[in-house]
Amino acid sequence: MTQDELKQKVAAAALDYVKDIPLIGVGTGSTVNYFIKMLADYKSTIEGAVSSSVGTSERLKKVGIPVLDLNEVGTLDIYIDGADEINPRKQLIKGGGGALTREKIIAAASKKFVCIADGSKCVDVLGKFPLPIEVIPMARSYVAREMVKMGGQPVWRENFVTDNHNHILDVHNLDILDPIELEKTINDITGVVCVGLFAMRPADVILVSQGDEIKSW
Ligand code: 5RP
Repeated sequence: MTQDELKQKVAAAALDYVKDIPLIGVGTGSTVNYFIKMLADYKSTIEGAVSSSVGTSERLKKVGIPVLDLNEVGTLDIYIDGADEINPRKQLIKGGGGALTREKIIAAASKKFVCIADGSKCVDVLGKFPLPIEVIPMARSYVAREMVKMGGQPVWRENFVTDNHNHILDVHNLDILDPIELEKTINDITGVVCVGLFAMRPADVILVSQGDEIKSW
């Protein structure tokens, strides 16, 4: 199976989790894009969705699902999103698509976060995938220097601006042995808007497509 076929397969598996749930949270990325296309068949049961990015909002509207403001909705029963890396403790690196801040907000406001991915995303130790950090533009160099002090190699994602009008640093070479501690430390750096480590609030359910199988834990 190709990686795209694996993404489609796991996206289909996530549909079981949204049956009969009127309000859902929807993440960002190519795996979630397949899920959104499939949601077209659930239009009658889904009243609306809270979206994690401008791109996802456009896709949701295209399949006829109203996009709602999280402030109006309150707590969500379920949030479906992808990931760039997943460890056995359901902790994640996210933000490859640059939507990490809104994704983290929706995950925080959701009772159940179901993470969908193809098997290539599973790792024992997070950090091979460069860790995305959303920063206030004027703080970019300062935050980059702080990350160098921590042993990372930050690379500015040039020609990219987030939906919140901020910049992204992708930090290479971090061996993330204590994800919760690192998330807290990076959160404390002035100028950081959000770090793409989802460790303090990990996923609740992981669905991974591997060959013909869907593994879940
Ligand atoms: C976007 C994300 C995505 O969930 C992550 O990049 C995975 O994307 P894909 O499904 O395209 O592999 O965090 O900010």
